[in-house]
Amino acid sequence: MTRTLVDNIGLLVTNDSSFDGTPLGLLRNAAFLIEKGSITWVGESASAPRAEAQNKIDAHGRCIIPGFVDSHTHLIFAGDRSDEFGARMRGEQYSAGGIGYTVELTRKASNGQLLQSGRRLIAEANSSGTTTIECKSGYGLTVDDEARQLVVAKQLTPETTFLGAHIVPKEYFDHPDDYVELVCGPMLEAAKPNAKWIDVFCDKGAFTPEQSRKILKAGIAKGLLPRIHANQFGPGEGVQIGVELDAASVDHVTYLSDSDIDLLSESETIATLLPAAEFSTRSNYSDARRLFEAGVKVALATDCNPGSSYTTNMPFVIAIAVRDLYFSPEQAVWAATKGGAMALRRKDVGHLGLSASADFSILSTPSYVHLAYRPGVPLIDEVWRNGNRIK
Ligand code: NIG
Ligand code: FE
Repeated sequence: MTRTLVDNIGLLVTNDSSFDGTPLGLLRNAAFLIEKGSITWVGESASAPRAEAQNKIDAHGRCIIPGFVDSHTHLIFAGDRSDEFGARMRGEQYSAGGIGYTVELTRKASNGQLLQSGRRLIAEANSSGTTTIECKSGYGLTVDDEARQLVVAKQLTPETTFLGAHIVPKEYFDHPDDYVELVCGPMLEAAKPNAKWIDVFCDKGAFTPEQSRKILKAGIAKGLLPRIHANQFGPGEGVQIGVELDAASVDHVTYLSDSDIDLLSESETIATLLPAAEFSTRSNYSDARRLFEAGVKVALATDCNPGSSYTTNMPFVIAIAVRDLYFSPEQAVWAATKGGAMALRRKDVGHLGLSASADFSILSTPSYVHLAYRPGVPLIDEVWRNGNRIK
């Protein structure tokens, strides 16, 4: 059996707090051993089991971090919305309406075209250090178009999410409750074989709390796991619904009441912040410090989509979180790795402790701090997933 030793790591982020008593579990002058795609030994380079390794990767003193876990994306779509972005930057306000334009283009695209564009975006994400990615439907909004978005998504990642309840499509503007019935019935049935998660956009201009609760419960009854878009445009019941249904994550959460924060702090539900969406829509950021003070677990994700956040780049998200949301660099790196894994309820990724999947990036720098300190600079030298080099 081939074993690979990754050696001469100047600084290793394990996210295993047993190493140094901090959430990042930092080790200096470190090494780890990979066997069958998983980590079987981690420790100081001086005591590495060299004799057991057939292959050696020399990190030359650089920093290694776990692969990013991007737990919130809308990657399967056709076309782009650069005109809408340009208009917004000239002063127009963002609303949920532009989604309808992407729906039109996505319905016209073939599965092959959707797969090709999804692959391009996944390759982009991989090259900036993402090794696990979640991917939602939500630009089909008919039974067939949602089902085929998920067929495509499933070819790209196991973390697939049925988001038939993204917006009410124009055919149903006059009778939205009939659309909710469609989502809970035939659309869910068609989506189910290729979806792990169910999500709802619970917000102004999208779905009401009652509709959201109903849709998530229908998905749960069919074996899907809940997550929710909550409180992006204003305060609401989204967080309450998410916690009540034991959602893995409540996402966006730009507007949070004290009681939302209390609920989150007593739950297993992760608060996933998507600051690239606020950046690209020139909106207010979430107040992350209130979440940290209350001990809520926080994840960072890109929200990659053609409307509100057309980026796959987790280092960019980290840089904004540190600069504008007052995350410490440590909190941001944790949220983009272990936080994302917890938002997907995955124990095998987002860390580099024993038995973790060997998913990691070798940075060009001596520290993870450079991810925020050198914004916009490509610092990801190598990316490995399951012990295989993908960049
Ligand atoms: O997460 N919030 C809902 N959906 C996306 C927007 C998608 C779009 O504008 O196309 C989001 O920001
Ligand atoms: Fe989203």
